[in-house]
Amino acid sequence: MPNTVESNNNNVCNGPLNGKRIILGVTGGIAAYKAAYLASALVQRGADVHVVMTQHAMQLVAPATFWSLTKNPVITGLFELPTKSEIEHVSLPESADLLLIAPATANIIGKMANGLADDMLSTMALVVRCPVIIAPAMNVNMYTNPIVVANVDRLRQHEYIILEPEIGRLACGNEGIGRLLDPDKIIQRVEEVLIGGRRDYARLNVLVTAGPTQEPIDPVRFITNRSSGKMGYAIAEMAAKRGACVTLVSGPTDLPAPEGVEVINVTTVHEMHDAVITRIKDVNVMVSAAAPADFTPAQVRDQKVKKSEKWTLELDRADDILEEVGQMKGRMVLVGFAAETEKIEEYAKIKLEKKNLDLIVANDVSPGSDVFGSDTNQVTLFSRTGEKIEWPRMSKREVANAILDYVKNHFMEALS
Ligand SMILES: Cc1cc2nc3c(=O)[nH]c(=O)nc-3n(C[C@H](O)[C@H](O)[C@H](O)COP(=O)(O)O)c2cc1C
Repeated sequence: MPNTVESNNNNVCNGPLNGKRIILGVTGGIAAYKAAYLASALVQRGADVHVVMTQHAMQLVAPATFWSLTKNPVITGLFELPTKSEIEHVSLPESADLLLIAPATANIIGKMANGLADDMLSTMALVVRCPVIIAPAMNVNMYTNPIVVANVDRLRQHEYIILEPEIGRLACGNEGIGRLLDPDKIIQRVEEVLIGGRRDYARLNVLVTAGPTQEPIDPVRFITNRSSGKMGYAIAEMAAKRGACVTLVSGPTDLPAPEGVEVINVTTVHEMHDAVITRIKDVNVMVSAAAPADFTPAQVRDQKVKKSEKWTLELDRADDILEEVGQMKGRMVLVGFAAETEKIEEYAKIKLEKKNLDLIVANDVSPGSDVFGSDTNQVTLFSRTGEKIEWPRMSKREVANAILDYVKNHFMEALS
């Protein structure tokens, strides 16, 4: 069996991945044998699959397995003599539509998070400009080791797609998080990334609020908060990608409008209130991710207040948009956020009840929690059905998709 063979792809198949070139990176984890299933499933869906194996992966699965499944050369070493005039570690990744690394060891994650390139796979990972999906699999202590957690976070921040491993019995005998995500779910994510994926929100109207509000106190000053709007924008973006008709009511942010989303820009909580209430009628799902002011100045001064003045600011309670929507929601699914600095569970549950929500997404915004402005978020869900789910830190896009999944799976009836 040759290590590298002339490209001989005759995977003539009219599957959904037809014409897509996928590099499948296989590293030295015990789940390496599952990569054979992945290679086969991707080929059956029409993809042109090129497997790159690390030296340690070859101790666990023979390259011949992948060669026979993909009919393409299995690339195993950086310094093998190329079969073509092109330099393989550059030409293949440059032409790839996707790099999928499954299983991904702690080692490859550490190397990628630090820009190291000491073998063919890690080198190609630096060359590719296509989406990269990483499916980690390892012992629970390895996956929860703070250094590995930080490496995974770093990759997420650079827009790598991390497929969170499953919780269960691991090959080492331990129980916990670390088992490779179900290969069929990996294939599903590949399809989502390459061909636009799920349209499970088609024909649904989704209204999202995002960002802070600004409450003027005089012509040059206002009261605001630290919300960046990133979470709400991610929800709007993902809902639109999944086929929803999305309206995003946004307070002032620096973020670009997500593709395919109607953005209504507002400044004050009063404007946000009116923008929401006038559009709420046919909405199927509303996600309130904005941080509208709880208090507004009782008086707005006409002229700039001078430094020489002593100034006591009186504040009134602002409109409670979510509570009002909760009272009129009917069959609509209503999702709120609770950003708290203390007693997170207690306050989130009170808000869930008081505002007649179906779901509340709670996050800790105490100093040092690194939520505002960050591209990642660690949230806990509380559902009106009594369910509590704590999710690991994920990119805000992943959190957005997970919320949309939850809504679809648990409140499907209300949406159909
Ligand atoms: C039998 C066996 C199973 C292993 N399974 C895993 C695993 O599931 N995940 C992991 O991160 N490392 C695992 N390792 C350790 C890696 O093989 C080791 O860290 C290696 O350096 C990874 O190299 P690579 O990333 O270049 O493939 C395993 C080692 C052995 C001997």
